[in-house]
Amino acid sequence: MRVLGIETSCDETSVAVYDSETGIVAHEIYSQQTLHAAYGGVVPELASRDHIRKLLPMVRGVVREAGGRESLQGVAYTAGPGLIGALLVGVAVGRSLAWAWGLPAVAIHHMEGHLLAPMLEPVPPAFPFLALLVSGGHTLLVRVGGLGDYDILGDTLDDAVGEAFDKTAKALGLPYPGGPALEALARGGDPARFTFPRPMTDRPGLDFSFSGLKTHVLQTLCRSDASPQARADIAAGFQQAVVETLAIKCRRALRETGLRQLVIAGGVGANQALREKLQAVVDEEGAALFYPRLEYCTDNAAMIAYAGWLRLARGERCPASFNARARWSLASLR
Ligand code: KG4
Ligand code: ZN
Repeated sequence: MRVLGIETSCDETSVAVYDSETGIVAHEIYSQQTLHAAYGGVVPELASRDHIRKLLPMVRGVVREAGGRESLQGVAYTAGPGLIGALLVGVAVGRSLAWAWGLPAVAIHHMEGHLLAPMLEPVPPAFPFLALLVSGGHTLLVRVGGLGDYDILGDTLDDAVGEAFDKTAKALGLPYPGGPALEALARGGDPARFTFPRPMTDRPGLDFSFSGLKTHVLQTLCRSDASPQARADIAAGFQQAVVETLAIKCRRALRETGLRQLVIAGGVGANQALREKLQAVVDEEGAALFYPRLEYCTDNAAMIAYAGWLRLARGERCPASFNARARWSLASLR
């Protein structure tokens, strides 16, 4: 079975075709980074307009590369959560193409896509597993029992971890998107020069809080000489605090659940320091670590096509109406 996947929830336009026999057969991602960089963050209206410009030509190219639309048996599109205007572009195009081509369609939860992305790798995890979902809008620890079987074990009480990276990067004078820029700056810094807290690790539970850390960065920056070296040291200290906080909670969750596989997913999962630290944690805990390749880590349609195939294969269908949701709880998919 071949499924077309469409992703437009934020600032990446992406289209892919997944084949249940051979895997991803065509995949394109267009990032709007340069469009939003001048504003220091995503401008929703500009994002929607750019998705409109890019999506149909990309669908044409990807479908041609995959061997034409006659080879497709379904369409999957991200229906939420995300920017409502951006989502509506993918939903309207995906649902309309399915109607015009006489194919079944299915609406996919963006975070479910991230959660299942490691299944596209040659050595995938097997259900059940523990997942750390870290993106621009989410910080979740999830017990994944199977498709749609998601127990939220931990959540953030305020900022998502990607958001904390982006805001900290902005404070340090780095360009949007902040996460990768901050990681690069941190490479030349001394993480031990300034002290940063490990929020909420001194009490039981698996929830997170990152807004205090961001404030701590601002205070440290004001007290420093704000030289290039001081900025690099602050970036390194901040990143280490985030990574260690996430690692402490992952270790705790592995012990509490008895699960032996840990998946990292979402854009912040691209962070090398986080991957290295979590590898050390699973080695010590006798568990295994899984993460998608970089292309499937940040926003992409490969994960949407794959999740779409799983849902279509078990008979799910969406009606011919459009339905996009800016907010949509992962736990409600059960
Ligand atoms: O999953 P994603 O592409 O989009 C959302 O669904 O939010 O995640 C984007 C987030 C941004 O906050 C970005 O700064 C962060 O992931 N990010 C990183 C890195 N690459 C992307 N954060 C830290 N280190 C990175 N290398
Ligand atoms: Zn995402």
